[in-house]
Amino acid sequence: MDCVKLVLFFMLYPFLCQLAFPSSLPHLCPKHQALALLQFRQMFTINSNASDDFCYNPKTLSWNRRTDCCSWNGVYCDKMTGQVIDLDLFCSGLQGKFHTNSSLFQLSSLKQLSLSYNDFSGSLISTKFGELSSLTHLELWNSGFTGLIPAEISHISRLQFLTISAVDPYGLRLGPYNFQLLLKNMTQLRYLDLEYLNISSTIPERDLTNLTNLEYLRLSYNSLTGPIPSNVSGLQNLQFLLLSSNHLNGTIPSWIFSLPSLIYLELTNNSFSGKIQEFKSKTLAVISVNQNQLQGPIPESLLDKPDLQFLTLSQNNFSGQIPSAVCNLKTLIMLDLGSNNLNGTIPQCLGEMSDLEVLGLNNNILSGTINTTFSTENQLRIINLYGNKLKGKVPPSLINCRNLEFLDLGNNELNDTFPSWLGGLPGLKILSLRSNKLHGPISDSRTDNLFPKIRVIDLSSNGFSGNLPVSLFENFQAIKKIGENSGTREYIAGDYSGNYANILIVTTKGLDQELPRVLTTYMIIDLSRNRFEGHIPSIIGDLVALRMLNLSHNGLEGIIPASLHQLSVLESLDLSSNKIGGEIPQQLASLTFLAVLNLSHNHLVGCIPKGKQFDTFEKSSYQGNDGLRGLPLSKDCGGDDGVPQPTTPVELDDDEEEEGDLISWQAVLMGFGCGLVIGLSIIYIMLSTHYPVWFSRMVVKFEHKIDSIMKRY
Ligand SMILES: *[C@@H]1O[C@H](CO)[C@@H](O)[C@H](O)[C@H]1NC(C)=O
Ligand SMILES: *[C@@H]1O[C@H](CO)[C@@H](O)[C@H](O)[C@H]1NC(C)=O
Ligand SMILES: *[C@@H]1O[C@H](CO)[C@@H](O)[C@H](O)[C@H]1NC(C)=O
Ligand SMILES: *[C@@H]1O[C@H](CO)[C@@H](O)[C@H](O)[C@H]1NC(C)=O
Ligand SMILES: *[C@@H]1O[C@H](CO)[C@@H](O)[C@H](O)[C@H]1NC(C)=O
Ligand SMILES: *[C@@H]1O[C@H](CO)[C@@H](O)[C@H](O)[C@H]1NC(C)=O
Ligand SMILES: *[C@@H]1O[C@H](CO)[C@@H](O)[C@H](O)[C@H]1NC(C)=O
Ligand SMILES: *[C@@H]1O[C@H](CO)[C@@H](O)[C@H](O)[C@H]1NC(C)=O
Ligand SMILES: *[C@@H]1O[C@H](CO)[C@@H](O)[C@H](O)[C@H]1NC(C)=O
Ligand SMILES: *[C@@H]1O[C@H](CO)[C@@H](O)[C@H](O)[C@H]1NC(C)=O
Ligand SMILES: *[C@@H]1O[C@H](CO)[C@@H](O)[C@H](O)[C@H]1NC(C)=O
Ligand SMILES: *[C@@H]1O[C@H](CO)[C@@H](O)[C@H](O)[C@H]1NC(C)=O
Repeated sequence: MDCVKLVLFFMLYPFLCQLAFPSSLPHLCPKHQALALLQFRQMFTINSNASDDFCYNPKTLSWNRRTDCCSWNGVYCDKMTGQVIDLDLFCSGLQGKFHTNSSLFQLSSLKQLSLSYNDFSGSLISTKFGELSSLTHLELWNSGFTGLIPAEISHISRLQFLTISAVDPYGLRLGPYNFQLLLKNMTQLRYLDLEYLNISSTIPERDLTNLTNLEYLRLSYNSLTGPIPSNVSGLQNLQFLLLSSNHLNGTIPSWIFSLPSLIYLELTNNSFSGKIQEFKSKTLAVISVNQNQLQGPIPESLLDKPDLQFLTLSQNNFSGQIPSAVCNLKTLIMLDLGSNNLNGTIPQCLGEMSDLEVLGLNNNILSGTINTTFSTENQLRIINLYGNKLKGKVPPSLINCRNLEFLDLGNNELNDTFPSWLGGLPGLKILSLRSNKLHGPISDSRTDNLFPKIRVIDLSSNGFSGNLPVSLFENFQAIKKIGENSGTREYIAGDYSGNYANILIVTTKGLDQELPRVLTTYMIIDLSRNRFEGHIPSIIGDLVALRMLNLSHNGLEGIIPASLHQLSVLESLDLSSNKIGGEIPQQLASLTFLAVLNLSHNHLVGCIPKGKQFDTFEKSSYQGNDGLRGLPLSKDCGGDDGVPQPTTPVELDDDEEEEGDLISWQAVLMGFGCGLVIGLSIIYIMLSTHYPVWFSRMVVKFEHKIDSIMKRY
């Protein structure tokens, strides 16, 4: 064998082993390391429940004594020495206690170790991690460890890549002292991601300066306090800086705006104040500084970033006008300027930004007419102009926003007739025009296929008149069927849900409520506080997926159509303050999800239905109807009002009563249950994904960047 062949043979040896002679050749990986791995595996079960999770790859199942451990899934050996140097058990479904003396710590040559996304619930992070001194790469993300992260972790001074997070918020802690030790000792760090660890420290200036290799720094949800140090001179390689949801205050120091490679800046939900200084970094793609107390005008220097895609400045105190230079941001996908003190007019050119998907200018003091011309090329999915002082007409060029899902022009001073042409937008799901000066009848044009996807339509508090728009109701295809996947949580413009521009204000029980995430199953028609007249068309009964119907404070007459009993998932019905007469249809008692009913101030007569949800409503639901009788109003129906009752056996009576009780309790629980399900699911999402979906989407966009940072080891 000549020399080249010999070298080649040894280089390929591990592969040849795996491919051709899995068990016949001598073990490459040292026996004690194989044993340590098998021992390690024995400590855990595989949680097959995890197979439903987004990641599940039970690598340890392939491990067995008869094969070389270097060929096992997730195990990688040094080609020369055969030592195990990389153990990748990311998403392996491991479940059980991770003993502090785990045999894993015998793998002293380990350079890379990933235990992320397993379930070691209740295990402490062993001090022995500090003995794995060759480690350059350690991932303990979302793996269920609890307790205090020991100081020994800072002994791993070669570490370049470290991620640790708690599954239960704050179940795992890194005290201020250990945090500073870690920064002091791990000067090789390129990637540091610590989340939900309640560090409760200030950010130490001296140690930060020495992290000259750092490219990615995320320290979100860690109760960090005080200012960001003003004198940090290192960090010249920093590309990602994420410090959201701490208690950081003071001004944002100028060195951040001068970082030459910064592409991602997220300082959301802190207490930063003062003005934003000159942005020198040209590389920025994401700037999220929402939920702070920043003030002053939107800095011009922010608007010459050739790669900027996400700009979120909402919920601050920025003032002055929206500079039209914002339209120079050709790559911008999200412009979120909501809840500031911005005044002046909406720049006309905004409609020409060809990549823009989200335009959030809600809750400012913008005035003038909306004479923005939306071009046919635009990609807008969310437009939120709620809560300004905008006048004039609904801009006709909105019809060019073919991707629009969410349009909120509510709480302005628009003076127009009903823009029924908006019904031509094929994907429009939410339309709010509430609290404007819109007027006139809603034309009864017999156009087919208007508003095919609409789920929420809020026209309340305007001056609309005439009959209720029967032809529109006929068109609302999405509200006519209860979705097959109504059990799943899907949100309108889902990948932006939780974003401030995607917040919807709805009125329930007379109170305005913010819905930060609107479920696709949330179907609402609110036509209250207008001047509608005539009858309630019985065709409303076809809108079977409706959750909320509010026709209150109009001039409606006639009777309550019995067809409303078909609205089987209706949770809230408000017909109050009209001139509706007749009796309450007994069939409405079948609405088992009905939690809110307001029929007050009408001309209703007769007996209030009994049973199920109707046993839960209070007097206020019916007051101001002189002809109504029965519980909960004082005058009762049947039995004690002088009409002779047929005598029935006492026993049967009791039985019926008990059964009735049972049913009504179930109904109450169901009524509550549904509201609870919606509420809980929102809370669950907020807890289980620390970030909203649009954040993940942003991260996905930069995945290749992050990957390239990660792969350089
Ligand atoms: C798997 O899920 C079932 C049902 O949800 C539960 O009873 C069981 O405890 C789970 N198993 C594990 C190992 O978590
Ligand atoms: C670790 O310690 C536990 C008891 O604390 C013991 O049961 C277990 O066998 C030990 N494991 C190893 C690998 O030494
Ligand atoms: C820093 O790391 C070295 C080597 O791992 C270790 O000896 C030393 O104790 C560490 N220093 C601190 C303050 O933890
Ligand atoms: C964070 O740690 C501090 C003490 O360091 C404690 O007072 C506080 O309650 C902790 N916060 C959470 C959310 O656990
Ligand atoms: C920074 O690192 C240098 C050498 O690596 C060291 O001499 C200096 O003390 C460190 N500074 C701090 C603040 O730790
Ligand atoms: C910033 O650093 C300079 C010199 O490096 C020093 O004179 C100044 O006091 C430092 N400022 C703060 C706020 O630490
Ligand atoms: C804002 O940060 C605080 C902690 O500082 C956290 O409790 C809260 O949940 C965060 N809010 C949002 C919307 O993330
Ligand atoms: C920052 O917050 C601390 C208390 O948490 C306070 O003492 C300090 O004055 C604040 N600094 C600024 C600039 O607001
Ligand atoms: C917001 O800024 C204005 C000046 O533009 C100032 O008068 C007001 O006090 C600020 N509000 C807050 C809450 O900082
Ligand atoms: C906008 O507000 C600023 C103060 O923040 C004021 O000076 C300016 O006149 C206002 N402009 C308009 C058009 O209202
Ligand atoms: C746009 O609106 C502003 C203010 O409402 C007005 O001054 C301007 O003339 C309008 N421009 C066009 C082209 O209509
Ligand atoms: C709406 O505009 C018309 C004419 O443009 C005007 O006559 C009317 O008074 C306005 N309505 C309201 C409520 O301002």
